[in-house]
Amino acid sequence: DWTPEHFIQSTVERVRAQVGPKGHAICGLSGGVDSSVAAVLVHKAIGDRLTCIFVNNGVLRKEEFAKVQATMREKLGLKVIAVDAGERFLSRLSGITDPEAKRKIIGNEFIAVFDDEAEKILKDLETKGVAEHDAEGNEVAWLVQGTLYPDVIESSSVKGPSQTIKSHHNVGGLPENMKLKLIEPLRDLFKDEVRRIGRDLGMPEEILERQPFPGPGLAVRILGEITPDRVAILQEADAVVVEEVKAAGLYRQLWQSFAVLLPVKTVGVMGDQRTYAYTCAIRAVTSEDGMTADWAPLPYEVLKTISSRIVNEVRGINRVVYDITSKPPGTIEWE
Ligand code: XMP
Repeated sequence: DWTPEHFIQSTVERVRAQVGPKGHAICGLSGGVDSSVAAVLVHKAIGDRLTCIFVNNGVLRKEEFAKVQATMREKLGLKVIAVDAGERFLSRLSGITDPEAKRKIIGNEFIAVFDDEAEKILKDLETKGVAEHDAEGNEVAWLVQGTLYPDVIESSSVKGPSQTIKSHHNVGGLPENMKLKLIEPLRDLFKDEVRRIGRDLGMPEEILERQPFPGPGLAVRILGEITPDRVAILQEADAVVVEEVKAAGLYRQLWQSFAVLLPVKTVGVMGDQRTYAYTCAIRAVTSEDGMTADWAPLPYEVLKTISSRIVNEVRGINRVVYDITSKPPGTIEWE
């Protein structure tokens, strides 16, 4: 019988055997459920021979770069290297409006930053004389990924079995003399099972209950050009949505709930001043797996509070609209 306890025990033993008594592993953290649970499992197996990398891509949510670091270090006890590459990402994204181009830039930039850090980690191990090498003398380490069963299915049906790694996690760009071998401790699991494992591992609910957040982050929720100003505006609006949805006790029932910044300015009035500012759309959906989704009938009172708080508290937005489109034919994200 499958139980979280049994899964944890057998996975920890397997990873420990795979990595060996001296091996090292690297894990990219996103702050989400999957990568965190994968990291905690591997940490349980090999302790601080696991190093995690967390990258600020400039399009994280408000205060997320600091909060995730604190949680991962203080509550999960992980060794985390945090890389603040926000400006580098934002300068590459400057002037880009095409959704797929945004994804590609963020994916490529992530690989570049991750590779740099992985290389530094391996060099450091080499300096300390604890690096492992293969028969040809290449430095070897393990790469931990939080791939789930649906990811395996989805990627293999779309792209063929040779490319099961999501593009933004791809390690194809690693230098030739560095070999990372993949560990995917969650690849037989569904999301609800991952949450149960996390609970059994004693991980905080604030991580386990997090709604999914796309790899390209707020970049695919800022329609049109991404500028530091627009990122800041959307971070504030998004924070209001999350706070109010949580305050209403609806956060866990919704698959996702968030704000989208539209490149549309409209006229408004504030006090006796005319305003001319952006419009923001609120999106809230229920879903089992993200493949299909229904727009959620948020209570009018919740919408009212969200709308008045955003318009009053977020400079740069003077109008709020609600998205009542299901998937299909709409997608969850606007880009
Ligand atoms: P859509 O918008 O396609 O989204 O209905 C389905 C689910 O996938 C997430 N999503 C992404 N996740 N990289 C990701 O890691 C992406 O480029 C991406 N695009 C969409 C979305 O948040 C939703 O949960």
